[in-house]
Amino acid sequence: MSSTSSSVTTSSDIHPDIAEVIITEKEIRAKVTELAAQVRADYADTEQPVLLVAILKGAVMFMADFARELGRPLELEFMAISSYGASTSSSGVVRILKDLDREIEGKRVILVEDIIDSGLTLSWLLRNLASRNPASLDVVALFRKPEAVRVPVEVKYVGFDIPNSYVVGYGLDYAERYRELPYLGALKPEVYSD
Ligand code: IMP
Ligand code: MG
Repeated sequence: MSSTSSSVTTSSDIHPDIAEVIITEKEIRAKVTELAAQVRADYADTEQPVLLVAILKGAVMFMADFARELGRPLELEFMAISSYGASTSSSGVVRILKDLDREIEGKRVILVEDIIDSGLTLSWLLRNLASRNPASLDVVALFRKPEAVRVPVEVKYVGFDIPNSYVVGYGLDYAERYRELPYLGALKPEVYSD
């Protein structure tokens, strides 16, 4: 009856600050595989490495898993940006903290996004990247909230449409915490008011 490991926290336990798991680790894994297969098929016509661009830090987990699933030549680049405004919503006013290390002119670029909420960050990023004259520019976003449909940008590959609540895990944070959780979860309300 008694468990010798009852007081041991393992990575499969649900974090005490999480109210509800929105998307499980297994569902995320299956979706990443599916998205990678779609992209691989769509880019099968070129031997040229695709250039995956991820935005730090939220998209890091997705980038790492997606790149390994893609199974084709690729390069990785990262940008860091900061959007002015409240911590849980974005204003669309974006500042580049770390730019790409290389030119992307003539490259086939895929922007790897963690989550699209208002879409303001994405629409700014797409304008910024497009102005650097890539050969092509697509977006793969793992999560998308309902607000995003109002943004007039084309997101070719979307993993999950999720409800409009603040979520953490799989790279997404609240005040820099919970990025390491392997699933997507909603925080307990009391966590916000601490
Ligand atoms: P947008 O400009 O409103 O689309 O916000 C996009 C960025 O805000 C994402 O790339 C995330 O970094 C962050 N973000 C938006 N919604 C959430 C959320 O529910 N949890 C954590 N981060 C979020
Ligand atoms: Mg964030």
